[in-house]
Amino acid sequence: MTMNLFDSMGGIEARQEQLGPGATVLHRHAVPEETALLSALRDVVAGAPFRHMVTPGGFHMSVAVTNCGSLGWVTDRTGYRYDPIDPVSGLPWPRMPEVFLALATRAAARAGFGEYVPDACLINRYVTGARVSLHQDKNEQDFDQPIVSVSLGIPAVFLFGGLNRADRAIRVKLTHGDVVVWGGAARLRYHGILPIKEDHHPLVGDHRINLTFRKAA
Ligand code: SIN
Ligand code: FE2
Repeated sequence: MTMNLFDSMGGIEARQEQLGPGATVLHRHAVPEETALLSALRDVVAGAPFRHMVTPGGFHMSVAVTNCGSLGWVTDRTGYRYDPIDPVSGLPWPRMPEVFLALATRAAARAGFGEYVPDACLINRYVTGARVSLHQDKNEQDFDQPIVSVSLGIPAVFLFGGLNRADRAIRVKLTHGDVVVWGGAARLRYHGILPIKEDHHPLVGDHRINLTFRKAA
């Protein structure tokens, strides 16, 4: 069942959609900060450029990634982990911009998760055809804290499954400014992104950016 609540943020229609207990889509919730978010993103990427990481199985991810915050999610032939150091630069990841943190905290609170202080932000960049297969976010220490996921740029179809890989997944179209929050009973639900269709966004260009906030440590 989905429930829609309408809200007005400076004239922007902000629809709130429930995907089940603990999982909410805050449609267009990040639009008011779009300019500040994209400017902060440019600063992060100047310090830690996007790269195609290698999975433990030896494949290059179709999505290019980077991180900001005190911990960054990394994958290589040895596995997945959170690391305070960017393996490419040998330096700490860029600090989490204030506008990122404020958005993540506000969205979490709006979805019912107060006092959220993420320490990691994984940034995914998708070009046409890039995808993320069904997975659980489970490299974090504390599953009491939700995941907050912000979509910018061209649209995607988000697959949101159950607690078992084989459970049927619903499809949710995510467009620029949409924020998905999942925690509590939904924290370990499988999710993924279908191959991105070619498109263009006036501010972001020909790709999709996703910011995934976590409390990792
Ligand atoms: C992920 O869960 O790794 C990506 C989610 C997204 O890009 O929306
Ligand atoms: Fe994920």
